[in-house]
Amino acid sequence: MNAPRCDRTEAWAALQGHFEAHGRELDLREAFARDPGRFEAMSVEAPEVFADLSKNLLDTATLHFLLDLADECGVAARRDAMLRGDAINTTEDRAVLHTALRAPRGAAPFNDDVHGVLDAMLAYVETVRDTGASGIRHIVNIGIGGSDLGPQMVVPALDGFAHPGLTLHFVSNVDGHDIAPVLRPLKPAETLFIIASKTFTTQETMANAHAAKAWFDANGGTDTAKHFVATTTNVAGAAQFGITTTFGFWDWVGGRYSLWSAIGLPIALAIGADHFRALLGGAHAMDEHFAHAPAAKNLPLLLGLIDVWYRNFHRFTSRSVAPYHQGLRRLPAYLQQLEMESNGKRVDLNGESLPFATGPVVWGEPGTNGQHAYFQMLHQGTDVIPVEFVLVKRTTHAMSGVHGPLLAQLEQQHTMLLANGLAQSQAMMQGKTAEQAQAEKAPTASKALNPLTLARHRTFPGNRPSTTLVLDQLTPRSLGALIACYEHRVFTSGALWGINSFDQWGVELGKALCNDLLPRLSSGDAGGLDGSTAGLLARLRR
Ligand code: F6P
Repeated sequence: MNAPRCDRTEAWAALQGHFEAHGRELDLREAFARDPGRFEAMSVEAPEVFADLSKNLLDTATLHFLLDLADECGVAARRDAMLRGDAINTTEDRAVLHTALRAPRGAAPFNDDVHGVLDAMLAYVETVRDTGASGIRHIVNIGIGGSDLGPQMVVPALDGFAHPGLTLHFVSNVDGHDIAPVLRPLKPAETLFIIASKTFTTQETMANAHAAKAWFDANGGTDTAKHFVATTTNVAGAAQFGITTTFGFWDWVGGRYSLWSAIGLPIALAIGADHFRALLGGAHAMDEHFAHAPAAKNLPLLLGLIDVWYRNFHRFTSRSVAPYHQGLRRLPAYLQQLEMESNGKRVDLNGESLPFATGPVVWGEPGTNGQHAYFQMLHQGTDVIPVEFVLVKRTTHAMSGVHGPLLAQLEQQHTMLLANGLAQSQAMMQGKTAEQAQAEKAPTASKALNPLTLARHRTFPGNRPSTTLVLDQLTPRSLGALIACYEHRVFTSGALWGINSFDQWGVELGKALCNDLLPRLSSGDAGGLDGSTAGLLARLRR
C-alpha cells in the first residue's frame, strides 16, 4: 500500500481549486432550484439504510473529485487489506477484523474461532433467558469504553425485542455513584454480573468488579461461578478474579469495534440468540455493500468523503448527530468513541505530523430534545455545524405490548417526531430572510424595538448542511447495518487522512499519571508536581 497521503494527491489540489471557485459559495437553495433531480441523484439506498445526501454542500464536480481522491489514496486497497486480515493497525502490529465477527461461516478469517465462541455464548444466553430455571432477573454489565458503549447503546435501541423479564444495567464509571444506585434494589440470587474488559486490567472495570463481588458476598450471595461471567481476551486474568465462565475474543477486535464479539453478551441476553444473529447479519450486509457497491453509490465511502470535504475544505470543526428515536439516545456517545478515538490523531502512518485537520468533534442528543437545547446555535450561531438526522419510519410500540388508544396516540406522536426531524433539516437549509421575518407577525416580539433590528434577530442564514439517514424500522438487522455503516465511514476518512484509526495511544498518558497521583492523594506528597496540580492536591486533602 504505497498510496500517497491525501494532501499529496492531484485530487486534493483539484478539490482546493474547486472549493475556491465554486464550493465555498454553493447555495443549496439554488442547487435544488437548478436541478430537480438532485434528490434522486444524491440519495443512496444501502442495505437497511437510506441516505439523503442532497442537503450537503456538494455538486457533481465535488463528488467527482472526492471519488478521485478515494482512488488516488487507495481506499479500496486499504479496505481489502482490512477485510483480508492484514496488520493494518501498524503501531500494534494487529489485524482489524471486526468484519470477521459478523461474517457467515466459511466467509472470513478466524471463522472457526468466531463461530465457536458465538455458538457457545448464544447457547449460554438461552439458559439465562429461561428465567424460570435460571432465576436471573437483572444483568449488570461492568465495563467501560468499547466494553460498555456499544451494548449500552444497542440494548435500549432494541427494547421492543427484549426479554420482558430481564432488566439490563450498565456500570462504567469508577465513581461509586454509578454502581451504588444500580446495586441498591438488587438481590444476589437474581443478579448476573458480566465483567467486560478486553484486557481485564482496566482500572475502572476492575474496581467496579471488586465492588460488585463485595456487595454479592455481603448480601448473602452464593455460587459466584453462576453469578459472575467475563467477556475478555484475558482468560487467565478472569480466572484469577475467580470467574470460571468466560467468553473470549481476540486482539484483532478493537474495543470500540467489539460489540459484535463476546462484548455483545448483554445485547444477546436482552434480545436472544436469533435477534443477535440478525444484528450480525445486518452488519454483514453493510460490510458486503462497503466491499462491493460501486464507489458512487457506496454509502460509507461517500459519508467518509463528505467528512473530509467538510473538515479540510470548509474547515467545519464538528458534526452533530440527531437520532429522532429515543431508543438511539446513546448513539451520539457511542459515535464519540468510535469516531474520536479512531480519528483523533495528529500524525500519519509514518509518524509525520499532519499539516491538515483530522476527525471532527462528534456530539448530539436525540430529537426532539436537542431542538429545545442547542438547535438555536445550529440555526443562528456563527459556526456552520453539519447535522446528521436519523429518522425511523415505523415504530415498534406494538411489539412492546402497547395497544388500543395508547398505541393510536403514540403512533400519532411518531408522526409528530418525523415531521419535526424533516422540519429541522428543511429550516437549516431554507433559512429566513430579514424581509420574510419583517413580514411575519411574531406575537412575543418587542413592540418597542425598531422592526428592522428585530427582523435581523429573527433572520436565519440558511444553507446549513445536513444528511438524513432513514431506517424503515429500528430492528436488530437495521441497527447492525447502521452501526457497520458508521464503522466503515470512520475507516474511510481515516484511510484518506493516512492515519491509524485503530490505536488509541492518546489515552495512555492520563492513565499513567493517575497511577502516580493515586498514592499522593493519601500521602500528600507533592514532590515534582506542577504548581496547579500540587495546589489542587492540597485543596482536595484539606
Ligand atoms: O480508554 C481506552 C480503552 O482502551 C478503550 O479503547 C477501550 O474500549 C477501553 O479502554 C476499555 O478497555 P478494556 O476493554 O480493556 O477494559
